[in-house]
Amino acid sequence: MRTVDDLEVAGRTVLVRADLNVPLQDGVITDDKRIHASLPTIRDLVGRGAKVVVLAHLGRPKGEVKQALSLRPVAERLEQLLGQPVGFPETAEGGIAGPAARAAVAAGGGGSVVLLENIRFEAAETSKDDAERAAFAEALAGLAGENGAYVGDGFGAVHRKHASVYDLPKLLPHAAGGLVVAEVAVLKRLTDDLARPYVVVLGGAKVSDKLGVIANLLDRVDRLVVGGGMAYTFLKAQGHEVGNSLLEADQLDTVRGFIDEATKRGVDLVLPVDIVAATNFAPDAPNEVVAADAIPADREGLDIGPKSRELFAAKLADARTVFWNGPMGVFEFEAFANGTRALAQALTNVDGLTVVGGGDSAAAVRQLGFSESDFGHVSTGGGASLEYLEGKTLPGLQALEA
Ligand code: 3PG
Ligand code: MG
Repeated sequence: MRTVDDLEVAGRTVLVRADLNVPLQDGVITDDKRIHASLPTIRDLVGRGAKVVVLAHLGRPKGEVKQALSLRPVAERLEQLLGQPVGFPETAEGGIAGPAARAAVAAGGGGSVVLLENIRFEAAETSKDDAERAAFAEALAGLAGENGAYVGDGFGAVHRKHASVYDLPKLLPHAAGGLVVAEVAVLKRLTDDLARPYVVVLGGAKVSDKLGVIANLLDRVDRLVVGGGMAYTFLKAQGHEVGNSLLEADQLDTVRGFIDEATKRGVDLVLPVDIVAATNFAPDAPNEVVAADAIPADREGLDIGPKSRELFAAKLADARTVFWNGPMGVFEFEAFANGTRALAQALTNVDGLTVVGGGDSAAAVRQLGFSESDFGHVSTGGGASLEYLEGKTLPGLQALEA
């Protein structure tokens, strides 16, 4: 993959696809990690005299202009962090690559930065129709003029076959930005020769999001630890009552298949042995610790229990490589954050490569007071890192390699 270091950028307009999809609460950014992670490439281009135009999305507006999903708060934060003005088109009317965008780009010179409005305000960005996406990509490329270039640095979105990720790099000289290069380098270490035991910890709400990665990992890992909401489908598949806990009944057969496959391959499949079961889904819900095979019918599991915390930590103690995606419980509620906290803590004690993959788990470790430096690598990509480990071809990487 050609990197931005090898790209001639001075005097050029460089379109940079970044992933600035940050969590917002009432218009306030609650975690700006993805903005920070995008700074080095932008700064590098600015320093080398490029006119930088950043393309990014926020949420899933599905082709409609939604003020709540405007990138304006991100533009303001980017401006603060860069310490230089960031042009932001006043309106998305006439299209994301329309007159306002053209004016904003034209207003700057070498070393200037413009952030376009949420690129998903444009239906063509995410369209399944190749021609529609290609036409939008042409319009975006037009912003860069005759001598434009493209840098793909939005690692969190490289698994999306979207116009700004997949189609646009085909139209311009292109290269991978430093964030993409760094993320891929770490994930590659998890697919090549790695130090064992290799333990993968999966959590989060949905088994169905993780089917591909589980199937692929079963012939690579030494241990697979499953917690969080998805663990209940595993417990149910083993024949246990799970009460009102999250359950994907349509995945039970698949999960039974995984359990058999793990046994066949000698993979240690580790499930919770106890659960914090609550009367309902609320921060102050009455709750008690119960055995994982004895969840009362009127309760729902919201976290793993203390014995599971110990068990999971023990399974990590001698690990040499660990990948973790997905919280162990409803960490947003303090009463149900202990499982996720204990798992993060156990990870910090591992003598080897530890990778925290993905939006929720990365935000969880920060919210629980851990620092990035406690882990080997905290990825900016959730779906992207999982799909990479699934062995899928990621459209954004494929386009950069071409
Ligand atoms: C993410 O938040 O995982 C990335 O920004 C990609 O967003 P998406 O899942 O809406 O495509
Ligand atoms: Mg996501």
